[in-house]
Amino acid sequence: MIRVGIVGVRRGSSFFALNHFDGVRVTAICDLQPEALIAAGEAHGIAADMRFADYAAMLDHVDAVVVGTPIEHHAAQSIAALEAGKHVLCEVTAAETSDQCRALVAAAERSAGVYMMAENYCYRRPVVLVREMARQGLFGELYYGEGEYVHNCRALRYHPDGSLTWRGEWRLRHTGVSYPTHSVGPLARIFDDRPVSVACGGSGSVCNPEFKHDDCNLALVRTARGGLWKIRVDNHSLRPHNMAFYQVQGTLGCWESSRGLGDQDVVWLKDRSSDPNRWEPLSALESEFLPAGYLHPPEEALRAGHGGGDWWELADFVAAVRGERPPAVDVHDAVRWTLVGIVSEQSLACGGSALPIEDPAEWRGAAQSAA
Ligand SMILES: NC(=O)c1ccc[n+]([C@@H]2O[C@H](COP(=O)([O-])OP(=O)(O)OC[C@H]3O[C@@H](n4cnc5c(N)ncnc54)[C@H](O)[C@@H]3O)[C@@H](O)[C@H]2O)c1
Repeated sequence: MIRVGIVGVRRGSSFFALNHFDGVRVTAICDLQPEALIAAGEAHGIAADMRFADYAAMLDHVDAVVVGTPIEHHAAQSIAALEAGKHVLCEVTAAETSDQCRALVAAAERSAGVYMMAENYCYRRPVVLVREMARQGLFGELYYGEGEYVHNCRALRYHPDGSLTWRGEWRLRHTGVSYPTHSVGPLARIFDDRPVSVACGGSGSVCNPEFKHDDCNLALVRTARGGLWKIRVDNHSLRPHNMAFYQVQGTLGCWESSRGLGDQDVVWLKDRSSDPNRWEPLSALESEFLPAGYLHPPEEALRAGHGGGDWWELADFVAAVRGERPPAVDVHDAVRWTLVGIVSEQSLACGGSALPIEDPAEWRGAAQSAA
């Protein structure tokens, strides 16, 4: 039996779906708000003595944790669990600062526990399909990609009494594409590539001058294989909810995701399209290229969030904990994708210059040779 504890039981509560996996049970929860503990505990049958305000105390009673707290706690809570030999599934992003990234990588590399970042947008149905098509070469050589996360979060910035929530404070602490992983993660998976530099620009606080943060930030990312990605993160602009957008361009074809306004994902593939000027619906390729699990999902997957993607993320985590396969988003990828945001902030401070993104997989070697 893998005993799981969830810390931060708002977003974290969606991870009670782990109970659907044989041999896995959420047995403990932790939150600073007593009412949140009671609500989640009662809803999910968590024993009263397994509801903790003290995270360290909860760690003694579990084999794995889901970290669903505000971003500023992700690194410290992940590191504490890894140092105690526990497995970690952590919400995005992995850390708030470069120093936290380094400490997290070191802790994960030392630990007997598995670390995985819960980047659920990698599991979206179109992303999984396009990734498989890219793997089979249908797009040829991929050289350009776009990822946008456009989510008006103004309402989430303030408590009813007008004081700032953690999101409001966090946004004011960080400029740049500070929430990049929903955009970068899917592109990294489709391109099978990693970011190596980022240059960032900001719109200024135009439509929302009282909140000192760019309404919209754009980053240009170079990848290790020479690809170019445009990343947009916009949590301020006034517009209807229309969260994620992607496109990729290769030498043999391209994909544009749905804008979510009644349109659909479209592709054009040179070797399969009879008309060079006509997009085809991406869905027409599902039966040929979508992994079987997505084509014929279990009931539980259909009930999970984000179009069933959250289910496959949990399946990957459970398999990694059992040692069946490596974590799907390991600590190196988690930090690579997180660093796009952290370095984009430094780029803005340097007038938008392109700055390098280190590869965390090389940190251990560098530390050892320095020692
Ligand atoms: N992947 C996704 O699609 C997705 C969606 C929503 C949120 N998130 C992520 O989930 C995390 C939480 O977001 P949210 O919307 O649930 O925030 P929230 O503010 O609604 O809830 C955070 C919860 O954590 C608790 N908490 C805060 N500090 C704590 C601490 N030190 N120890 C224990 N509990 C603590 C709070 O009391 C609260 O119950 C964030 O990192 C966010 O980025 C991801």
